[in-house]
Amino acid sequence: MKSAIYPGSFDPVTYGHLDIIARAAAIFDELIISVLNNVKKTPLFSVEERVRILKDATKDIPNVKVESFSGLLVDYASQQDVHVIVRGLRAITDFEYELQNAQTNRLLSRGALDTMFFTTSLEYAYLSSTTVKEIASFGGNISDCVPDFVEKMIFEKYGIRK
Ligand code: PNS
Repeated sequence: MKSAIYPGSFDPVTYGHLDIIARAAAIFDELIISVLNNVKKTPLFSVEERVRILKDATKDIPNVKVESFSGLLVDYASQQDVHVIVRGLRAITDFEYELQNAQTNRLLSRGALDTMFFTTSLEYAYLSSTTVKEIASFGGNISDCVPDFVEKMIFEKYGIRK
């Protein structure tokens, strides 16, 4: 069985992430979406909330599994016996960071872990979780960025009634 891991912060998941998830799940037998438990960041949603949101948002894709991880991605991937990482590339600005991560992971894993990049669909090229949070914090319209139930949860976090 060919499995891949799609790691990320997903704080929160956007339509851009969901587009990558659908496309990667159509290629691999199993796609493990893995939420990074990053103690250095103060997220809007807890890891448990993000896992729950992702499970809900991907409930119609049978070969998707949602988990969380902490520590090095190479260690987590090795524990799962998975050798492919999936990441999305929105623009050239993502490239340097992603290239560095991919090469670091390949080096740390002694060649056992490769990264496969999906170019973001054009309609989501502008989209990031950070932008979504910024717009929502000012009460702006994020209905084109995230599923309805996520939109509701974000506004609740900011104490904004819509
Ligand atoms: O959604 P993000 O925040 O861009 O995801 C970044 C992520 C989770 C893929 C990356 O930070 C990561 O893999 N972190 C785990 C720690 C690690 O393995 N670091 C070394 C590789 S660069």
